[in-house]
Amino acid sequence: MYTFYPYFTNDGSVGLFSPEADDIYHSTYGALSEALEKFVLPMELSEFIKKNNQIKILDICYGIGYNSKTFLDFFIKNFLLKNNTTAAIGSDNISLKNTNKKSSNFNIYIKAIDTDKTLAYLSPFIVTGKKFFRSNKLSFHDERVEKFLNKKNVISNENSPREKIKYLFSNRTKKSVINNGKFLGSRNPKISPVTNIIFLLEIINSHPEFLTDVNINHILTDKKYKEFLARDIAALFNFKRNQGYKYTLLRRLIVCLHNIYYNHLSISYKKALKCLKLCDFNFDLKICDARNAIIEDKNTYNFVFLDAFTPAKCPALWTLDFFKLLYDRIDEDGIILTYSNSASVRKAFLESGFYVGKIYNESESKFIGTIASKNKSLIKNELSQYDLGLLNTKAGIVYRDKNLNASNEAIIAYHKSEVETSDLESSSSYIKKSGRKHNV
Ligand SMILES: C[S@@+](CC[C@H](N)C(=O)[O-])C[C@H]1O[C@@H](n2cnc3c(N)ncnc32)[C@H](O)[C@@H]1O
Repeated sequence: MYTFYPYFTNDGSVGLFSPEADDIYHSTYGALSEALEKFVLPMELSEFIKKNNQIKILDICYGIGYNSKTFLDFFIKNFLLKNNTTAAIGSDNISLKNTNKKSSNFNIYIKAIDTDKTLAYLSPFIVTGKKFFRSNKLSFHDERVEKFLNKKNVISNENSPREKIKYLFSNRTKKSVINNGKFLGSRNPKISPVTNIIFLLEIINSHPEFLTDVNINHILTDKKYKEFLARDIAALFNFKRNQGYKYTLLRRLIVCLHNIYYNHLSISYKKALKCLKLCDFNFDLKICDARNAIIEDKNTYNFVFLDAFTPAKCPALWTLDFFKLLYDRIDEDGIILTYSNSASVRKAFLESGFYVGKIYNESESKFIGTIASKNKSLIKNELSQYDLGLLNTKAGIVYRDKNLNASNEAIIAYHKSEVETSDLESSSSYIKKSGRKHNV
C-alpha cells in the first residue's frame, strides 16, 4: 500500500519526504511560498495578459500540484476577480470569462506531468494555511520523516532562545513568531477551496478511475494523515464516490457543493464561485515519464515549470538532450522557470540555444532560481561574469541522455566519467580564486 510522508513546512503548507530519493519534494522554507516566489511571480502575469488572451503552461513534475494550483489561484484572485469577471459553471467544463475584455474569454491550458499517480490524485486535498505548524507533537509519526526534519534543524522547546533566533534568520521567515515552541508564521499563504475544487473536478473528469483508486481511499481514511488533508474537499469527493457515478457531471457536483458546503463558505468564496462561469480552463494530467510525454506532445507553451528532484540525484529531466527537446516546445516568447541554480543546468540551457538568467526575489533580496527563454528581452537578471566563469569549470559539465530514456543511475555514471577525465578547472579552485563564497 502506498505510503505518504507529509510534514508541515514553515508557511503552514504541507511538504513531502521521498524515502526512495532520500530527499524532500518541498523545502522546509515553505512549499506554497516557493511555488509563488519561484514559479508564479516570475511569470510576470500582468505583462503577459496585456498581450495575450490565452496561456499554455507545462508543469513538469506536478507532484501534489503546488505550482499549477498556485498559478490558478493567483490568476483568479489577482486578475479575474479584480477585473469584474463574471463566471458560471458550465455543464461539462469550467470557464473563466473576463468581461473587461469585451467578452473575449481568457483561455487557460495546463498540461501537468508526473510519474506518481497517487500524488497527483491527492493534489486537491492537500491543506494549506495551517496556523500552528511546528509542533513537538506531530500526529503523523514516521522515523524517516522525523530524522529528516531533525537533520534540518526543526525548532522545538528544547532549543535555546539563541538557537530559535538563529533558526528564524536562517529560514528568513520575516516577522515569524514562536509561540510555545511552535512557529506561527506571518506569511500564511493559502489555496482557496474553489481552486482545489476546480482541480478535483478536472482530475475526476479526465481520470474517472480516480473515484475508485484504492490508494486514495486508504490515505483519505487513514487517521494519521487527517491533519494534512482538507476534510471538506475529501467529503465532497466521498459524496461523489458514494453516488457511484463513473463520470461526474460538473453541474451535479456544483449542486452537491452548493447543498453541502454553501453554508460553510465565506463571502469571498461565494463571490469566487459566482465568478467561475463558462469554461476555458483545461487541465491535462499525464501520468508518465516527462520525457515520453513531451516527445509525444507537439504543443508549444508560454510557460514551463521545471520542478524535478535535484539534478545531482535525478538528472533525467536536467540533461542537455531534454532541454533541446523543450526548446521545440516553447513559444518564441515562452519561458522556463526552475528553482535550480546549478551551473550544469544553466550550461545545458545555454547549449540548447536559450538565453539564461536568474530569478530575483525582491522580498528576500536574493537570487532563487533560473529562467531560460528564446527571447533575450525576457531575461531581466543576466548571469554575472562570476556565474559565467563557473559554467566553464567542471561544475558546468552537462548531463547527457542521448536517447532520452536512460536511467538516473546511468546518466550519473556517464557524467561522473566525463568530470573525472575533464581538464577543466574544478569549481572549488575557481571559487577560491574568485575570492568569494559561492553565492548565486
Ligand atoms: C520536487 S517534486 C515536485 C513537486 C511538485 N511540483 C509539487 O508541487 O508538489 C518532483 C516530482 O517529480 C516526479 N518525477 C520524478 N521523475 C519524473 C519523471 N521522469 N517524469 C515525470 N515526473 C517525475 C516525482 O514523482 C515528484 O512528484
